[in-house]
Amino acid sequence: MAPNLAEMAVTSPRLTQDVLSRVITFANGKGGVGKTSCSANFAALSAAAGWKVLFVDFDAQGDAGDDMGYKNSEANDRGAHMLQVLDANKPLQPVIREVRPNLDVIPMGREMLKTIEDVLAGKRRRGTEFRLMLAEALAPIARDYDLIVIDTPPDRPDVLQLVFGATRWLVIPTKADRSSIGNLRDLAEELKEVRPANPDVEILGVVPYDFDTNAGRIKRNAIEDIQAVLGDAADVFQDSEGEVIFVRHSNAAVDARNAGKLVHELAEMAQEEESGEPGWQALREGKKGDRIPGSVGGLAGDHLLLTNAILTRIDRFEAAASA
Ligand SMILES: Nc1ncnc2c1ncn2[C@@H]1O[C@H](COP(=O)(O)OP(=O)(O)OP(=O)(O)O)[C@@H](O)[C@H]1O
Ligand SMILES: [Mg+2]
Repeated sequence: MAPNLAEMAVTSPRLTQDVLSRVITFANGKGGVGKTSCSANFAALSAAAGWKVLFVDFDAQGDAGDDMGYKNSEANDRGAHMLQVLDANKPLQPVIREVRPNLDVIPMGREMLKTIEDVLAGKRRRGTEFRLMLAEALAPIARDYDLIVIDTPPDRPDVLQLVFGATRWLVIPTKADRSSIGNLRDLAEELKEVRPANPDVEILGVVPYDFDTNAGRIKRNAIEDIQAVLGDAADVFQDSEGEVIFVRHSNAAVDARNAGKLVHELAEMAQEEESGEPGWQALREGKKGDRIPGSVGGLAGDHLLLTNAILTRIDRFEAAASA
């Protein structure tokens, strides 16, 4: 049985712990491994389950704007607000409110991210500590949200240090190839580098992304490789029966992005066409994604399992910390 949204909602207490204890960053120094797809779908599914979510984009391509459908809207400032916050100490505000119910966004774009990088490089040259600037900017509004979800770029070390300085939990999507998995080692090093500024940042888990559903051997090898690289530092996410959650390869991901929809929204549309019933209802009620017509149902089911696993793991760590 897949998790249902009602179950996910009950584990949604208002923030009671440290104000930035629910900042979840999706990162991997390698490009094209599912950072944006995982972070955008996680943010939107959590919001649909009733969590109040702020999505903060630090991806130069602003691909989340495609996934959530705001890329070409007037409200998309392509990072102008974030630049003012970091460069001119302006107070941080959500830029696009309620892009979906419960989901606010601070967008990003290529030019602004480049300028932000220049600002950070200047501070680095002058020996000014910049790694807590985002944390300080987020702190005053963090209590308005249950979750703050951050998407990151590949290959921009200063931006990653800035984001890691504000991060409590790191989620790492990776593909099966050795180079993607090898990158996890670099990421673990980058985390070490930021710990003097932010000792709270930890890896929450790894997501094997874009896998062939039938490739048993590739899946087993990838899990072994991930565990060899990260050891006890992190684990892959598992469902309630202890099965590793793989997000499958599916062209539905490309269709969803092109349509400006999250994957579960495309699944809903597909099911409506097929049966006249709102398809999202099936996932809401805990049916497996595979029972929704077409490959989009399977992919939506994977994102739902992953969202539930991330929320459950955070809940477990929080419960253990407060015990
Ligand atoms: N499950 C999937 N199956 C097949 N293709 C996918 C899947 N998810 C995403 N894609 C496609 O793979 C590409 C990379 O995905 P995504 O943008 O999520 O990765 P990323 O790590 O954020 O990339 P970047 O490093 O460029 O920001 C995109 O073109 C996307 O449409
Ligand atoms: Mg991306």
